[in-house]
Amino acid sequence: MAQSIKVDNTPVKFSAENISGKVEHASIDAPAPSGLTAFSPTVILGFAFIVLFVLARAFGVGKKQKLPAGVKPLPRLPGLPYAGRFWDVPAPGIEAAWHFGDLHKKMGPIYEWKVMGTIHIWIETDKIAHDLFVTRQRNYCDRNALPAAVGVREGSEILPLMAFGEQFKRYKNFMHLIMRHSSPRSFYGWPTDENKRTLRRILETPEHWSEHMLVHCARTIAGVAWADPEHGSKLLTIIPVILKAVSPAGPIINKLTFLANLPEAISPFKKIERVRKQQMTDAFCEALQDVKNRVEAGDAPDCWSKLWLEKEKGTEHLDFYEAAHAIGSSSFVAIATIGGPLHAFFTAMCHYPSWQFKVQEELDRVCGNQLPTVADLPRLPHLRATVKEIVRWRQATPLGVPHVAMEDDVYEGYLIPKGAICHANHYLISREESLYPRGNEFLPERWLSPEYPTYQEPLSEFPNLRGDKAFGYGNRSCPGVDLTSAELMTLIGSLMWAFEIKRSEGIAGRDHPIPWYETAPWVITMSKPFPCSIKVRSEEKRRIIMTEFPEGGNLVKATPAERKTKWDVSRVPGEDLFQWDGLTDQAPKTSRLYPAGA
Ligand code: HEM
Repeated sequence: MAQSIKVDNTPVKFSAENISGKVEHASIDAPAPSGLTAFSPTVILGFAFIVLFVLARAFGVGKKQKLPAGVKPLPRLPGLPYAGRFWDVPAPGIEAAWHFGDLHKKMGPIYEWKVMGTIHIWIETDKIAHDLFVTRQRNYCDRNALPAAVGVREGSEILPLMAFGEQFKRYKNFMHLIMRHSSPRSFYGWPTDENKRTLRRILETPEHWSEHMLVHCARTIAGVAWADPEHGSKLLTIIPVILKAVSPAGPIINKLTFLANLPEAISPFKKIERVRKQQMTDAFCEALQDVKNRVEAGDAPDCWSKLWLEKEKGTEHLDFYEAAHAIGSSSFVAIATIGGPLHAFFTAMCHYPSWQFKVQEELDRVCGNQLPTVADLPRLPHLRATVKEIVRWRQATPLGVPHVAMEDDVYEGYLIPKGAICHANHYLISREESLYPRGNEFLPERWLSPEYPTYQEPLSEFPNLRGDKAFGYGNRSCPGVDLTSAELMTLIGSLMWAFEIKRSEGIAGRDHPIPWYETAPWVITMSKPFPCSIKVRSEEKRRIIMTEFPEGGNLVKATPAERKTKWDVSRVPGEDLFQWDGLTDQAPKTSRLYPAGA
């Protein structure tokens, strides 16, 4: 593991009303607490399952519901009463998109699937996703409870996972406001500064490119949020824990959801979650407190937190705890989501080397010896097409973020019951044949040439990421598009300006085939890193990077011994690479057989 999160008995600084002032001794990656020794998890699990199964039978769970005339249930695969098809839950993000996607061939474009008493609805097309999540958005704007992240839906900590309601609206309005303020100001210059540092880090240690991408994302958003890129360590520390907690591939409770009923005294999941929640609160509150101190001292650069501290109109309605979490939870989502396409960019460059030269010709012509900026983008259609195609080709969230039906609904004669968890299959939507011919290929020309259905003029404006389906639908859609666009376009442009990226030559290349579609198994899927060749394009560029650009500022320590604070992250002893607690494991060296269509 790249880092482990251990919390001791030291009193914590920040707490919500419902959090006690101390964190119990617990460890996120430790075995279950010792109080459980009398109850082996397997025994508890087996026993709980049998009891639930018998109760479900006794109370008639699974009996057919009477529907009004003309209304049918959605097609559904057979399963056990209550437990449904519990054996049929594929864990990893993209594997689940392939698995449930393949079932559409048999079940049609929308079908339901039941597990542990909960109905999931799988959506194959953009039209259905749009009909439900946009046209009927008032009914499809809730989020589901997550068993391993207990209370997150009801709490006021994490905007993307919050139930629909007044608190959600306050946070989302706040998020829109800080985005509207920072976007025209180029996010206060933080992405531009970090592009330079990242190029320098890559030039010095190209073999650590994956780490440099993550550190880039962490430093950039920490600058935007708290005017100090060093706070990015806090985000790198907390993300693996929460990302696993909200993924089906995470703790077993996410599949055997009835385990959520175990009382806290014997629930390892609830204890771990309590620690996780406190750790996140500490991270967000410490960062905001730091900006507060600097604002009071009169030396805080512009950032989102400063807007709230200086009572920018529209931000006054949040208290300290709320502002800390609205800013923090809008920041931690900016790392794996943007890191995903950045990793996929390296994959694409190695599989499709000739495209790089077209973009480099454009960059050299338009930018010369300067790095590309947002202001240059209208004159860089090939660069924009590259980014647009990467976001389509390797979806960061292949099954989106679920929307939950707030009331019973009837769609094309089919019942969508209240509480159903609806998943739009973004992997399939991004490959609908009528719009994206040769959808499995990385084909940036589709955005630049009139022979493709996705072509749109004027090329000084299109393609761009505004309204891109990868960012979701309706009133729960992603508010981070502008930041993603500024960050991806200028960093990918800077990387192509500076380097030639290709598969390694000779034995190194033979020993490391370039993976095709290998991703981490979490809900936000990042393409797995792999060794490749990254060479600076000219001696003049080397000189510019080494003499004119600031030093790197890596957030990842080489060894655990170098960690000075609880927020520092490090590589594992003996490992040369930052595995980010399993989020950036290397791609396997052997090729695999992918499902048809991947
Ligand atoms: C490639 C980059 C990104 C992708 C593909 C992406 C995708 C998504 C998707 C699919 C959703 C759920 C939409 C839905 O429910 O229909 C979402 C929600 C969200 N995203 Fe992003 N996102 C990205 C970057 C970002 C960034 C950089 C930020 C913040 C700075 C951000 C902040 C959020 C927030 C706060 C939500 C929750 C919105 C809500 O629940 O109402 N995202 N994103």
